[in-house]
Amino acid sequence: IHEPTFGVYRSLFGLHGAKVVNVALGPPPDFALSVDGILNAINERTKLVLLCNPNNPTGNLFPRDDIVEIIETAPCLVAIDEAYAEFSRTSHTDLALAYDNVITLRTMSKFAGLAGFRVGYGVFPESLMPWFRRASPAFFNVSAPAAVVAIASLADLDHLKVNAERIIVERERLSGQLNDTSGVLAFPSSTNFVLVSLPLKDASTIVTALARHGLLVRHFSHPDLANCIRISIGLPEHHDRLLDVLRQTLESAPEDQT
Ligand SMILES: Cc1ncc(COP(=O)(O)O)c(C=O)c1O
Repeated sequence: IHEPTFGVYRSLFGLHGAKVVNVALGPPPDFALSVDGILNAINERTKLVLLCNPNNPTGNLFPRDDIVEIIETAPCLVAIDEAYAEFSRTSHTDLALAYDNVITLRTMSKFAGLAGFRVGYGVFPESLMPWFRRASPAFFNVSAPAAVVAIASLADLDHLKVNAERIIVERERLSGQLNDTSGVLAFPSSTNFVLVSLPLKDASTIVTALARHGLLVRHFSHPDLANCIRISIGLPEHHDRLLDVLRQTLESAPEDQT
């Protein structure tokens, strides 16, 4: 896996007894995928390369050519987690139909807002199905209520697409406002959140200050992200309030923090 990325992969693969090999992304602001780094990390024991695209928590989308190069060169499975694809106006599910070593993973948790129902799906070659059945835990099925809700939700796909577009528009507005704030940099995002670099060594103090105002954002312990917070896209009025409190808090941050 590349690093930083969604932390659950590490714990989940660990539970299955896998050895996880980290390949660092390039430095901010690009957080570029190192194709050579990934290909060089592969050995005869490698079972899977996992790409989170767009990536959580950096928010960026990797170039399609880089992904195709990894797929065509890696002698193993390549899984592409597309949990946030609907906010990127891009899809790689066609690669799963074109190559027999590609799995694309999607979720209804993000763009359909159904996180509590636990519904997701994969697009992958049928030849992998027996392996999927072997590896999946018992009672891995979607519950009957969740299936009803997911089908009802997909019946109004146009509404979901309009919502995703609204989130994209609001993401861009918030990013613009953040970039107009002295010392603040919103990294380009293809997701429903924005990773934001602050003019502080350690942004965890800001997370605590925002929480006092009922504004909940994430901080990450990864060294490259110590000065960053991740803001999930909400309603415009949430962001206006967040911008107010963030600007005030940064203005009153002690000198030795910056
Ligand atoms: C990259 C990524 N993949 C998968 C998930 C989990 O999705 P689900 O709710 O379908 O388990 C998340 C949730 O935060 C995520 O960020």
